[in-house]
Amino acid sequence: MARQARRVSLVQGRGKDATGVGELRVRRRLRGRLLVGSRLCLRPLTEADVTKEYLGWLNDSEVTRFLEVGRQRSTHQTVRRYLTRFHGSRTDFIFAMIDRKTGRHIGNVTVNRIHRVDCTADTGLMIGRKDLWGKGYAYEAWSLVLAHAFRDLGLRKVVATVVVDNVRSLRALKKLGFHVEGVLRQERFVNGTYKDVVRLGLFSHEFEPLRGGR
Ligand SMILES: CC(C)(COP(=O)(O)OP(=O)(O)OC[C@H]1O[C@@H](n2cnc3c(N)ncnc32)[C@H](O)[C@@H]1OP(=O)(O)O)[C@@H](O)C(=O)NCCC(=O)NCCS
Repeated sequence: MARQARRVSLVQGRGKDATGVGELRVRRRLRGRLLVGSRLCLRPLTEADVTKEYLGWLNDSEVTRFLEVGRQRSTHQTVRRYLTRFHGSRTDFIFAMIDRKTGRHIGNVTVNRIHRVDCTADTGLMIGRKDLWGKGYAYEAWSLVLAHAFRDLGLRKVVATVVVDNVRSLRALKKLGFHVEGVLRQERFVNGTYKDVVRLGLFSHEFEPLRGGR
């Protein structure tokens, strides 16, 4: 599946919807493995992306407060080890989020544990540049990978797990159409206390950009 991944574009359609992001229209192109949005381009993350700035994000407790990666110090070595999981994988993908205007790497988004029988996967996202939080980049990046997951990889359902205090993440996911499927009580140790974790799920037919923008 990975090798057949296609270039998918989510571009702004005519008129803005209530989200302010604009009605999204999905367009396929057949070459490469690039997912192109209005402000972002997603491409596979490589070891060359593991820069000092990237390590800085991983070692910034504000960025990784709700992420497992924040539990230990990241080095070139730990990140390279983490990335081996994605090399040639047909079930786990990691994309670098590139700001189309500046060409700068601003974060990553993953599609993990693709299950061929259940047609499911889970997703996670990190924007390392804190100055870019709250500007709709998570919404756009998730829109692109979800369109890819549903339309190109043929998945039926994508899930995410989010610490209950991660309001930004919950809002972005709900806006994309995710539904809360359950709460894992006091599942994750964050800042000295055990926090609930919300499990959300999205079926392909519930995905807002595909529903509204085609
Ligand atoms: C969580 C994260 C992915 C959100 O990305 P983002 O680009 O800021 O998200 P978006 O701008 O697309 O959407 C965020 C939503 O939260 C809202 N928001 C922004 N700042 C907020 C705040 N301080 N409190 C509550 N909501 C806030 C936004 O307004 C938006 O909702 P709206 O469109 O209804 O107004 C990003 O902050 C991040 O990478 N954090 C660190 C890593 C992380 O926690 N990843 C998530 C793991 S599941």
